[in-house]
Amino acid sequence: PQATEQYRPKFHFTPKANWMNDPNGMVFHKGTYHLFYQYYPDSTIWGPMHWGHATSKDLVSWQHQPVALYPDSLGYIFSGSAVLDVNNTSGFGKNGQVPMVAIFTHHDPKLEKLGGNKHQNQSIAYSLDEGKTWTKYAQNPVLKNPGIQDFRDPKVSWYEKDKKWIMTLATKDRITFYSSPNLKDWTKQSEFGEKVGAHGGVWECPDLFPLTLGGKTQWVLLVSINPGGPNKGSATQYFVGDFDGKKFTPLSTDTKWVDYGPDNYAGVTWSNTGDRKIFLGWMSNWEYANQVPTHPWRSAMTIPRDLSLRKVGTQVLLVSQPSKEVSKLGSSEITLDNVAVKGEMNLSDKTKNTGPFQLKLTADQLADFAVVLTNDRKEEVLIGYDKKANQYYIDRTKSGKFDFSNKFAMRATAPRLTTSAKMDLTLIVDAASVEVFADEGLTAMTGIFFPTDEFKTIKVRAANPLTLRKVTYKRMGVGI
Ligand code: FRU
Repeated sequence: PQATEQYRPKFHFTPKANWMNDPNGMVFHKGTYHLFYQYYPDSTIWGPMHWGHATSKDLVSWQHQPVALYPDSLGYIFSGSAVLDVNNTSGFGKNGQVPMVAIFTHHDPKLEKLGGNKHQNQSIAYSLDEGKTWTKYAQNPVLKNPGIQDFRDPKVSWYEKDKKWIMTLATKDRITFYSSPNLKDWTKQSEFGEKVGAHGGVWECPDLFPLTLGGKTQWVLLVSINPGGPNKGSATQYFVGDFDGKKFTPLSTDTKWVDYGPDNYAGVTWSNTGDRKIFLGWMSNWEYANQVPTHPWRSAMTIPRDLSLRKVGTQVLLVSQPSKEVSKLGSSEITLDNVAVKGEMNLSDKTKNTGPFQLKLTADQLADFAVVLTNDRKEEVLIGYDKKANQYYIDRTKSGKFDFSNKFAMRATAPRLTTSAKMDLTLIVDAASVEVFADEGLTAMTGIFFPTDEFKTIKVRAANPLTLRKVTYKRMGVGI
């Protein structure tokens, strides 16, 4: 196949070569962000899963590390998490060295083929050299499958109040919480998810963490689901509620999405980052992930995003914003004030756009408009607001290459979640993706695209006259 490095992002993480899906084992340790990920080193399509590994000091430039976990007699290494066992509850620590412990799913393909439902079990491994080398626990698995077809993706965190570990596990159509004193012995605490949230597909890759709002601790539960997302295929929903060490009780039972776009899946947060909660997702969708036209690698991660909560009316909603490490990337800003748009306006005369960029628009009125990313072939991606429907959208129906899958060309929509009369939109574009943060991060949308030639032209389109109070553009990239 033809090399398509043209779609390689500059500051989003990609493997050097071959297949990647979910982020795994994200843990911050001694100034380094560790990112492990579902990896198949022998092909650009999904296969026997390993944990790839990369590290970063700043969340935007990544160093590739050797593969951390290889498949073994218990199966492939599916998704999971990593923690620092500071109190050495596991006993894996030696000479005062804090063990990094990975908790993951062993997926046994041979058992799966034989039928039945016990092929997914939870196992652990530890590292005493900052994630470089790993020792699998001799008595794996530590949590055996009780007979549930989908039993995977353990996300573990320390619950200080009861001095115990909590495992949040995806168990088919619900989440099951387990607890442990030592990461080896697990006891079931409760289940959550029956008749709550979206159920168009299997529940996967959960995460549970506290965030404070107005001085009060709320617990956020992320649950990825495939299929059944708001724009088809895979997506990540969330619940806000209370967690007492045993049971999660949601404030409301309706469905909310971390990101409404088609390409943000299996995202979870870094552990050991204190009050800060940094999220990263896999920037693809199982509907077409194995077909996207990149080579020699497949898939990128989203940018890291800081999560917080905001009260909107009676609701408590999750807010996603580009992490400051991303926002501060890049060259000096070009700012335009009071930009009157009628019909179509070409911003590129001013921005001289090339390469990745960030574009921010603010308006004091609500009106239809679209930012158009385009090239000389008239291929385009539209990112806009539809006033009548009160929706944001990403339209990639004319985005260039899309016939690799009949699921790809689409206009993805997302609700506007505030009634504020002011509007703001931030776009982060890097080679083959756009990440949209509207209303200061209340609505997030992520979409990938593959134009034949780079989109070097940025336009703003508005059928009715519209004044943008401010337009801010900057080129982005590491070290520019
Ligand atoms: C989510 C997922 C996980 C599983 C992994 C396998 O994308 O299906 O549930 O652990 O991918 O690669």
